[in-house]
Amino acid sequence: MKRAVLQLGAGPIQRALLGEIARLGLVPIVVDRSERPQGLVPGAIHLRAPIDDADAILAALRDRPRELEPVAVLTSTDLGVASVPRVAHALGLPHASAESVAVMNDKLEAKRRLARTGVRVPQGEVLGRGDALPEGREAVEWIVKPVDSSGSRGVRRVRGRAAVEEAIASAFGFSERVLVEECIEGRHYDVNGLVREGRFELVAVGHRFFSKPPACVPLYGGILAQPDPALEARITALMQRAVEAFDYRHGAIKADLIEDARGPVLIEAAARFHGDVFSDHTMRAAGLAPAAIHWLARSGAVALPEPIRRTGAWLAIFPRAAGTIEAIRGLDGLRAHTGFREWIPRLGRGDRVGAPDDNRALVGYGIVELAEDGDVWSGLERLRRSISVVLREEGAGIRSPGASVA
Ligand SMILES: Nc1ncnc2c1ncn2[C@@H]1O[C@H](COP(=O)(O)OP(=O)(O)O)[C@@H](O)[C@H]1O
Ligand SMILES: [Mg+2]
Repeated sequence: MKRAVLQLGAGPIQRALLGEIARLGLVPIVVDRSERPQGLVPGAIHLRAPIDDADAILAALRDRPRELEPVAVLTSTDLGVASVPRVAHALGLPHASAESVAVMNDKLEAKRRLARTGVRVPQGEVLGRGDALPEGREAVEWIVKPVDSSGSRGVRRVRGRAAVEEAIASAFGFSERVLVEECIEGRHYDVNGLVREGRFELVAVGHRFFSKPPACVPLYGGILAQPDPALEARITALMQRAVEAFDYRHGAIKADLIEDARGPVLIEAAARFHGDVFSDHTMRAAGLAPAAIHWLARSGAVALPEPIRRTGAWLAIFPRAAGTIEAIRGLDGLRAHTGFREWIPRLGRGDRVGAPDDNRALVGYGIVELAEDGDVWSGLERLRRSISVVLREEGAGIRSPGASVA
């Protein structure tokens, strides 16, 4: 028998992880609906199925070579999370309850359970179409966000009734329910963890920095060489209570947290690791094994290499406005950076790109290793600003790049 790992979804961003799994002596079984997934690596087996259709995945699995023995089921995207427990169950592997995964997928139900368990979440209310906005929201800043969406789509940080109402109207373009929440002012953290027998274990904490309001798009972030043990203890305590609130007992977990003077607040959680830009590429730049390899190691399938502990970071490039990409300037400078690891392109010359309001307008990610410690973020932001997108707009000539989103 040969041990295998099932990965639901295999785009170009998953390619490095799948290569690593193969190098560690496990056979990647890639489930992907496309004919030739870009993440398919030599030695991997491809099963063609939509990753959000557990029945189709199980049907495709019946044709797998008999000598393969799956030891884990992984996914990197929300589309695949509901399939993971069902597929793992059918393969006889430990798994979370389908209900616990569904609770995390529903932003409202997740908030309700967290609040009930005493985990701090942003205060706010949910509106349906036609619901009146309660009075008295002039003074402070609000976050307006669609309940059923992701990738910062429709998320706005606004102040004043008129702006809140406008943001609500645009959020209804993404969901039938819209959350209006208090804006938590503080530091943002990306948390990767894993849960075994109901116990949360921290895998990595990343810092994340967002655009100026009203958009809430992530611009750069990373993992510091020197972890902060007190912060990690606060995060672990909060995450333990969160997994208990969800009754999530087995699998990967990611969370977005913001910490203010009162402590950490849970913004969002899901039954997977963060996207592979953070969970693989940035973790590797930080001298750590990818989060999925931590999971395989905890399951006893591989040995975990010793961490090297550097500062590893990512930066995201957005255009200044909507248009057609003519060129991306500054990539030579990025490549010349002493810690340069990778440029991960998402869009290129000739591609149409929307306004930089959410992750759909992402042109690419840079991954760097940073030598210094302490305040590395201002240097990273300068590096990000040295890269810009030249747009050719319809009916106009080439638009000068200026800075990407502020
Ligand atoms: N209540 C809040 N206070 C401050 N910032 C928030 C709040 N809710 C969301 N955000 C910001 O918006 C981003 C996207 O919101 P999130 O709830 O994570 O939705 P998505 O599914 O689009 O990622 C968050 O990472 C955070 O930066
Ligand atoms: Mg989020």
